[in-house]
Amino acid sequence: MKKMEQQFSYTAYESIQELNAADQELMNAAKSATGLAYAPYSKFRVGAAARLENGIILKGSNQENASFPVGICAERVLLSVASSLYPNTPILEMAISYKNELGKSDNPISPCGICRQSLLEFEMKTHQGIRLLLAGETGAVYEVPKAHDLLPLGFTSADLLAGVK
Ligand code: THU
Repeated sequence: MKKMEQQFSYTAYESIQELNAADQELMNAAKSATGLAYAPYSKFRVGAAARLENGIILKGSNQENASFPVGICAERVLLSVASSLYPNTPILEMAISYKNELGKSDNPISPCGICRQSLLEFEMKTHQGIRLLLAGETGAVYEVPKAHDLLPLGFTSADLLAGVK
């Protein structure tokens, strides 16, 4: 028997003003993307912005549905936009924020479990970690070195192939 341990560290900035200019630009793009959300049910408008390896910034926002499980998170909308417009182009970093119409919060958003799985697949496909910048409406910004950090022991394509003859 052996005890295993996995750790990850992230950086907490006091506010968006503490970020460098390029990161502020990306976070502002994420914040502006909250205006593109379709969130009539939750009223929780999520915006995400990605900087691709080719320098282009793309935006995504959550798109809900009267049949609630059909709705898609901003992060996965953005990954699909990136893959469709620029196939196989790595994403270097993604900023995520939100606007909650029911009340303001400083709590930095963190991607849901399904989005973590999708982010990991994208990282593996492009052989590039995606640096995450997570923000609330104001206040602290968390910087996570790569999305994989948020899904330790995740299921990947390697698991499908393990043991296959
Ligand atoms: N949502 C996102 O778009 N991204 C997240 O990281 C968390 C949640 C969306 C899904 C749903 O439309 C709304 O926020 C409330 O859960």
